[in-house]
This record gives sequence, structure tokens and C-alpha cells, in this order.
Amino acid sequence: MDYGQILKDIKPTEEEQAEIDEMSSKLVQYLEKLCEDKNIDAKIQIVGSVAKHTALKGKSDIDIFMAFPLDVSKDVLKQKGLELAHECNDAFGGEASHHFASHPYVTSDIDGYEVDFVPCYAIEMGDQIQSAVDRTILHTIYVKEKLPKEGCDEVLLLKKFMDMTGTYGSEFKVGGFAGYLCELLIIKYGTFEETLKQACTWRHGHVIDLEEYGTAKKFNDPLVVIDPTDKNRNVGAALRLNKMSEFIQSARNYLSSDRKKDYFYPLNKSLDGNMILDEFDKRGSDYIAIKFDIPDMPLDTLHPQLKTTARSLIEKVNNEEFIVFKGDYASNEKDSAVILLEMASSKLNSIKINQGPKIFIDKACNNFTAKYGAENCHVIDDFLVHTQKRQFSDAVKFIEHVFTPDNVKLIKIGKNLRKTIVDTYEFVSLETLANDEFYIRFLDDFLNPGQYIVR
Ligand code: UTP
Ligand code: MN
Repeated sequence: MDYGQILKDIKPTEEEQAEIDEMSSKLVQYLEKLCEDKNIDAKIQIVGSVAKHTALKGKSDIDIFMAFPLDVSKDVLKQKGLELAHECNDAFGGEASHHFASHPYVTSDIDGYEVDFVPCYAIEMGDQIQSAVDRTILHTIYVKEKLPKEGCDEVLLLKKFMDMTGTYGSEFKVGGFAGYLCELLIIKYGTFEETLKQACTWRHGHVIDLEEYGTAKKFNDPLVVIDPTDKNRNVGAALRLNKMSEFIQSARNYLSSDRKKDYFYPLNKSLDGNMILDEFDKRGSDYIAIKFDIPDMPLDTLHPQLKTTARSLIEKVNNEEFIVFKGDYASNEKDSAVILLEMASSKLNSIKINQGPKIFIDKACNNFTAKYGAENCHVIDDFLVHTQKRQFSDAVKFIEHVFTPDNVKLIKIGKNLRKTIVDTYEFVSLETLANDEFYIRFLDDFLNPGQYIVR
């Protein structure tokens, strides 16, 4: 396979690289000057893929870390960090927004570059870590030292392949491979192709321990890659089993494909609302789509909460004896989210069996017949039961019942979502979703869950 043309398409040109480098060093110089003027003891460093030359074309965010000495308190670090970030942002005419993940940082749009200003502690060893981002500087040093020049191209191929097959990115929404994880895989296996070949032989719990720390037993994750800069950290911790599996299967598909090139480019598919609606129709299911507003919150909080809510709702609907064939959720990450349930059965008969105690428990059986009348009870296997009217014969009615202030506690619902779901939810038609630029893609993915991993 000749990767020349693909690399041309995915690698920043020398000019682009020079521009990024220039912008980066201007920002660093400015921040260094600020620190000097303000007498702030912080070391300014470019980290992440830009520093490691493993950034994909057009995608590179500039990651700037401001490393404070270990004796500085967390409050001071936060306050000084934000101050430096904002002054720098303003000086460059940027557009800044705050992020309150586990760690506060500022993202800013400066001349079209996404710049992340992140305060951290200047640690020398992984075990000195104070906050989740402190290892990043060590990662950058490690990769620059261990990844040979040709290796950078291999990382780019791997990242792009993963991006196009839907497995790149450690944010919760994806649960896939982080950039640093890709770099470690190439350091381990040498090339993109060898990584794919090896991935086909991985088992659940596969261990990669580049520095031979021998600490893998601490971890239960599906893929264990001991961080060379911290023996107590699994770089694969955020990788979910389904994404690891998708990567392995897409590697198999790729290795036996005669359309290898296509794996590095988007699916190039134009979506036709009517065709999608036809597909849904053909499946003969009932669909329940629930749309609601989302509050302003970090994406790495939003997605887990949506997941919990959708899961719990599906479980409750199934407990009522409806049958959810498939359920999924999506959010445009701006103002709304949708939970879509495909029902194998959304209407039920009007009676149900209320299961009572085991027949051998004398007292419990007497209580049961006292409550329902012995003439109304009968026996199934070794249980005393009673036939009663169902409260809900229609899944939609049941969901309406759940999404009320009094009953919403029946399901596990993300705490930031509870109020907005109850206040704003509505049932929408598939047509409505098919007319939405974002949600039409969700519908297409719902129908074609395997479309990214094969070309
Ligand atoms: P980024 O998410 O920006 O990754 O995190 P990246 O390596 O620069 O890759 P791209 O090209 O932007 O996608 C910056 C650094 O933060 C650390 C890594 O050291 C990474 O290089 N990091 C980030 C992690 O250790 N784990 C993560 O899940 C995310
Ligand atoms: Mn980055």
C-alpha cells in the first residue's frame, strides 16, 4: 500500500506547520513576558500533538501548558492560570470560553486556531501528579524522545484511520483511542500496518508495558497500556470495550480490503430523508422519539448523563413488559438531545399477572388472599398470583407518567437533566428528526451501526 497520497491529504503542509509553529511561539513568548512582568513563577510549554508533530491537517488545537511549582496552592494555580490565559487571549484578539472539567482551563479561538490554555503543576515523575493534566508535559517529552521521525507519519495514518472509522478520541462521547495512545501504539509496533495486524490478535485485557513496569495487574480494563511516565496509570482507561472491538474489526476489514484508501476519507454519503424514513418503515417497529432541551454543561458530563438516562428509561420500559428492540440517544450539543426507542412491542393487552409469594410460605399467602380475595387468586408453578388490570398498555403513556415531577425518580436520570427533561420534553416524529440537519445523521447511524468500520 502506497501511503504517499494519503499523507499528502492528512499531513499539514510545511507552510501550515510553519504558521502553527509561529503562532505557538508568539503565544509562548507573550505568556513568558506576562509571567516576568507579573512575577509569576510558571513555565510555559507547548504540548500535545502540535509539539509532537503528530497533529492532523486542519485539526490541530494548540495546547499551551502553564506549569507552576508544586508548592503553589490549587486556588492560586487556578486564579493565576485563568488570569494569564485571559490576558493573552485579549492581547491576541481571541474569543475565550471557560471549561470546568475536573480542572479549569480556557479555550480560545485566536485567528482560527483553537488554543487551550491549561494551568498545571511542574512534575518530574508521574507519581507526583496533583491533577489529571500534570502528566501531559511528561507525555510530550517521552514521545519526542521515543518516536522516530518516520513514526510521526505512521501516527497520522493511525489517527486518521481511527477518526474515519469512528474510534478516535478519548472524550466520553466516543470512548475511543486518545492521541497519546496512538503514539504509544506506534512506538510499540513501529508502523500503522503492524499496529492493525497486532490488534487483530489482541485479547480482552491485552497488556502493553513499554517500560516493563510490571504493574498491569492493577487494571481491569479491556486494553491496558501502562503509561511510560506513570506506572500507576492505564493510558487505555477511557477506551470502552465496544470501541476497542470496533477498532479490531475495522483493522481486519482494512487488511483484507481492496479499497484501503477509502478508509482514510469520510463516508461521502448524501442523506435522503425520505429514504431513511422508508427504511424505518420497513422494519415494522413502533418508534418513540423524545426530544428535550439541554442545559449549558461540559460535554464530558452531558454524554454520561444522557447515557444513564436512556439506559434507565429503557430498563423501566422493559420492566413494564414492553419490548425495546433498540435504543439510542444523541445531542446536537447546542440546545437539545433526543432519545429514540425502537419498539418490538409498544402496545400491550389490558391485564397482567401480579406475582405473589411462593405457595409454601403460609403467612405470606394468607396476606395475599386477604388483600385480593381468595376467589381472585390462582397458582402458577409454585407461586400464588392474581390477575389484575394493567396500569399502562401504551409505552408512550408510561413514559408520560415517568416524566412528571413526582415520578421522574422512578428512573436514574442525570442530575443536570432532570428538570429540563420534565419541563421541556416532547414526543417528536421521525419526520421531524429527518428534517433536522444534525438528527438526520443520528437516524442514519441508528439504521446503519456498522457503516464506519468497513469500506
Ligand atoms: P489532546 O486531546 O489535545 O490530544 O490532549 P493530542 O495528543 O494533542 O491529539 P490531537 O491531535 O489534538 O487529537 C493533549 C495532551 O493531553 C494528554 C496527552 O498527553 C495529550 O497529548 N491527554 C489527553 C491524555 O493523557 N489523555 C487523554 O485522554 C487526553
Ligand atoms: Mn491537541
